[in-house]
Formats: sequence, structure tokens, C-alpha cells
Amino acid sequence: MNFLEKGVFLRKLKTSWKGRVEVANEKINGLGAHEEALYRLFEEKVTVDNLRKHCLATKAIMEKLAERLGENKLVWGWAGLLHDLDFEETKDAPQRHGLVSARWLENLGVNEALISAVKAHNAESLGLQRVSPLDFALSCSESITGLIVAAALVRPDKRLAGVEPKSVRKRMKEKAFARNVNRDLIMLCEHLGLSLDEFISLSLEAMKEISAELEL
Ligand SMILES: [Fe+2]
Repeated sequence: MNFLEKGVFLRKLKTSWKGRVEVANEKINGLGAHEEALYRLFEEKVTVDNLRKHCLATKAIMEKLAERLGENKLVWGWAGLLHDLDFEETKDAPQRHGLVSARWLENLGVNEALISAVKAHNAESLGLQRVSPLDFALSCSESITGLIVAAALVRPDKRLAGVEPKSVRKRMKEKAFARNVNRDLIMLCEHLGLSLDEFISLSLEAMKEISAELEL
């Protein structure tokens, strides 16, 4: 190998090595896609302020759950942020909610477990089963956000800071309070080995940590 050939060889090696590192990183982080591309997709598709806050709250709870359960915090957090990507597009067609997001995520190479959880959060309309801890976590997390926001908004100061776990627990039993919040989905936390009380405390703590972003 002469000097020139050696230069080309080294450049090729460097390029292929760089590729391998990137692929390896994606395998390690488990997402299967670059975070930047996912964030761009989120920004493009989720434009309504309240929906954005709902997604941020779900992400915060999912990350805390992952920490508690020893799961992949990055993947669980992104599942929380991305689960309602197609909400604005499918609000009049619940039988498509989750499927459109799944297609967008598949195109970016996102891992199957995350995509399955996004679809399974609408399991009732799509005729699917929840199977993995990620499926159950996403469904209970995104459901409890509505109850916690409502519990904050009925306070005189309309702030999360003063909301206590016991008041969320009480609201859980009042069917007329935040009636759109599906209590059965919140109870799926038990599939993760968490009691309702533990799940309420964890969720409240997670949302309080980002109260500035939630403007609550
Ligand atoms: Fe949601």
C-alpha cells in the first residue's frame, strides 16, 4: 500500500467507524432515531399550547417512572412526549389516533417498543392489547395529567405547588370531577407494581418539577 492508498484506506476506516459509533449509540440509547429529528417532528405536529403542555407533563411522569422502575429513561420520556403527535390531525377520527403517529415514527426508524406504546395508549379504539410495562406506563401517565391539572385549577391560586397527593386521591373518586379523565386507565399503574397512592405521589412530584413550563 503506497502513501496515497493508505490515506484513502484510513479515511474509509474513519468513515465506517464513525457510522458504527452512531449505530451503536442508537442501540445503546434504544431510540433508533436521532433526538433532533424527533424534536423537529414534535414541534411541527404539536402546535396547540395545552396539548404541548400535556405532552411535557406526560414526559416528566414517564421519566420519573423509568427511574423508579429501572427502565430506559430516554425512551420512556420520548414516548411520553410523542404519544399525541397526531392528535390535531385525528381529533375527529379516534380510530386513527396513534396509527398516524406510528407511521411518522416508523419513517424515522424509531424502535418498535416505543411505537407499540404510542398505538396502545389508544388500545380501546384500535382494538389492541397493552402488553409491555412501557404500554401500561404511557397509558396511566398520560391519563393522570388531566386529573392533576384539574386539581390545580380548582385551587384559588391555580397552582400545582399546593396540590397534595391526598387531594388528587379524593378527586379520583369523584366521578363528576374532570369527568373526561378515564380512571380505569390511571389504575393501570398497578400493572407496574405501583399502588395508586405511589403513582399519584410520583406523578405530582414530576409535574411540580416542571411547573414553570406547564405555567401551573
Ligand atoms: Fe395524551
